[in-house]
Amino acid sequence: MLKVSDIHVSYGPVAAVKGISFDVKKGELVTIIGANGAGKTTTLNALMGLVPVSSGSMLLKGEDLSKIPVEGRITRGLSFSPEGRRVFKSLSVLDNLRAGGNILSKLKADERIHDMMEQFPLLRERSHQDAGTLSGGEQQMLAIARALMSQPSCVILDEPSLGLAPKIVSQVFEIIRDLRETGVTILLVEQNIKKSLAIADRAYVMELGKIVKSGNAKELAEDQSIQDSYLAAGS
Ligand SMILES: Nc1ncnc2c1ncn2[C@@H]1O[C@H](COP(=O)(O)OP(=O)(O)OP(=O)(O)O)[C@@H](O)[C@H]1O
Ligand SMILES: [Mg+2]
Repeated sequence: MLKVSDIHVSYGPVAAVKGISFDVKKGELVTIIGANGAGKTTTLNALMGLVPVSSGSMLLKGEDLSKIPVEGRITRGLSFSPEGRRVFKSLSVLDNLRAGGNILSKLKADERIHDMMEQFPLLRERSHQDAGTLSGGEQQMLAIARALMSQPSCVILDEPSLGLAPKIVSQVFEIIRDLRETGVTILLVEQNIKKSLAIADRAYVMELGKIVKSGNAKELAEDQSIQDSYLAAGS
């Protein structure tokens, strides 16, 4: 589905991603884990075309993404829920969903809005409310639903559980697991490493712009160095 080879991304003199390669196969749930500043968000932004890569290649279903702008990537089946649940706060829930479906025909968008409200009944109750008045957990559900509007084959989620109460964190992980059951390919970046390794098929560990480890998620969860670095008491 996705194949990333040796990409580099810099912000001026700052090298944020230093030649990483990874792939996500159809139907897989793959997680990228790593400390703050490792380059995870930068990697996802590069995949969506939100920051330019200075070298390397990214393929979606075998097609080179380098010359394809953001909207074209969405049309081809990629979708993104950004870090910090960035919903449009002064727009209603309904209009946020419409924004996620702006590549669709009106008829198809209405159909998808109906589907999203079936899947997230809470959004139906709040459909005319400004998104900014929703709770953090509700905004995160809206951000995920908005990303699903375009009926993506591959969804990229950046820190969906960040800053949420433990009960809501569990709900968000359930949503991701359910989503995966529907056959959608998922690339997940998470600070909640324990929970994301528990639901993922495979994982990549990023440190300072590089991938330092990768493998089966269950095996990595048992790995002593991962436990020491990321799964210490309290996390
Ligand atoms: N717009 C920017 N301009 C300059 N430097 C940036 C910019 N965005 C990110 N960086 C730098 O690039 C590096 C990687 O940042 P990035 O946001 O990709 O990390 P991350 O792994 O997503 O971290 P976090 O877990 O905190 O979200 C950091 O050193 C960061 O300071
Ligand atoms: Mg980040």
